[in-house]
Amino acid sequence: MEDEATLSGGSPRRSPKAHVREVGGRKLKASTLMMGHGFDPALSEGALKPPIFLTSTFVFENAAAGKRHFEGVTGKRPGGSEGLDYSRFNGPNQEILEDRLALWEDAEEALSFSSGMSAIATLLLTFVQPGDVIVHSGPLYAATETLIARILGKFGVTWLDFPAGATRDEIESVLEQAKAQGRVSLIYLESPANPTNALVDVQAVAAARASLFPENPPPIAIDNTFLGPLWAKPLDHGADLSIYSLTKYAGGHSDLVAGGVVGAKRFLDPMRAMRNTIGTITDPHTAWMLLRSLETLELRMTRAGENAAKVCAFFRDHPKVESVGYLGFLNEGRQADIYRRNCLGAGSTFSLYLKGGERESFAFLDSLKIAKLAVSLGGTETLASAPAAMTHLSVPDARKQAMGITDNLVRISIGVEDADDLIADFDTALNAV
Ligand SMILES: Cc1ncc(COP(=O)(O)O)c(C=O)c1O
Repeated sequence: MEDEATLSGGSPRRSPKAHVREVGGRKLKASTLMMGHGFDPALSEGALKPPIFLTSTFVFENAAAGKRHFEGVTGKRPGGSEGLDYSRFNGPNQEILEDRLALWEDAEEALSFSSGMSAIATLLLTFVQPGDVIVHSGPLYAATETLIARILGKFGVTWLDFPAGATRDEIESVLEQAKAQGRVSLIYLESPANPTNALVDVQAVAAARASLFPENPPPIAIDNTFLGPLWAKPLDHGADLSIYSLTKYAGGHSDLVAGGVVGAKRFLDPMRAMRNTIGTITDPHTAWMLLRSLETLELRMTRAGENAAKVCAFFRDHPKVESVGYLGFLNEGRQADIYRRNCLGAGSTFSLYLKGGERESFAFLDSLKIAKLAVSLGGTETLASAPAAMTHLSVPDARKQAMGITDNLVRISIGVEDADDLIADFDTALNAV
């Protein structure tokens, strides 16, 4: 029997396929699902890969569908909106990206942003009001500290912090002080902290929150850029929202800037509404690049992690090296305990302390032939920089000292090159010091 499409001379329309999440009772891994999840070729002329949807707006099927859509967007009709209407709100590439991002942490949903910082800014604007107190671990990525202290500070928001490695009792006492200061609307963590690599005990933070806020607990958000999504899954340990600079490992090729947040729908719904208002979504081209990147995420991170373990073993025994701040070397004390409970791998970004000072670290950096002298991390290529003279130049000396940001510190992010080639490069550069 001929159907309508065949009679009209076109090819028959296919209907969208349901997402396949398991096969034969086996729940599929995120690494498998990165190749197709969230995209149905039938919706794009049979294309195997998603096209880049460069459009600023979407056509409604009819006026009633347009009305129904806006009833959903504005909350006049419960259940939210279906479909797409305007690219500041969402688009096919971003939706596929968000579906795939959520899989890595087994989260209900995800949102994508134009940068890690715009994800963090959207989070803060969503949950924090004038007069509120933010409790955070310290240190944080410098721009996050600026945003909380200086920018939200202008709007009457205050903050209190606890050191990254704090115990449950120490965290409880800071939360208690904060409660006396105002409404605690957000607990914000970063683990490992940039640039000290100090780990935060997410389970202790969740336990402290439970005892101090039996009702209306403030959400716990954590910057998971350094270890996520392969080496740390903080939603499993009591965090509500996991935040990413997708510029780093997720993008992984040092060719884009983007951000992401994953977690439960009840936290992401208000963030989506804020993102719709202020327009901090990522663009379709970047979302498409990220889809490519996510297909190799596990391969890249696994290789970079293995490389880092080999390179750090080489550095540890070198006579010109004072010490190596690498999570894989933690074997006793509180940090090692947090590492065992909260982390699935040591990552590929670490601190190298050379014997000497700025002269030695600069001589080392200037002699590298394979590793590039650049800030950032998590790319396919190895990067090295001197935080005291670069990313943290403006941090006051006393604070730099307290955080271990000394002149002999070199921060290294290991890529996916051959490990022995990297070791040859580092060995030659150390010999030139
Ligand atoms: C831990 C951490 N969080 C957030 C950011 C900000 O991300 P983006 O540069 O994508 O805005 C960075 C950037 O280096 C970072 O290292």
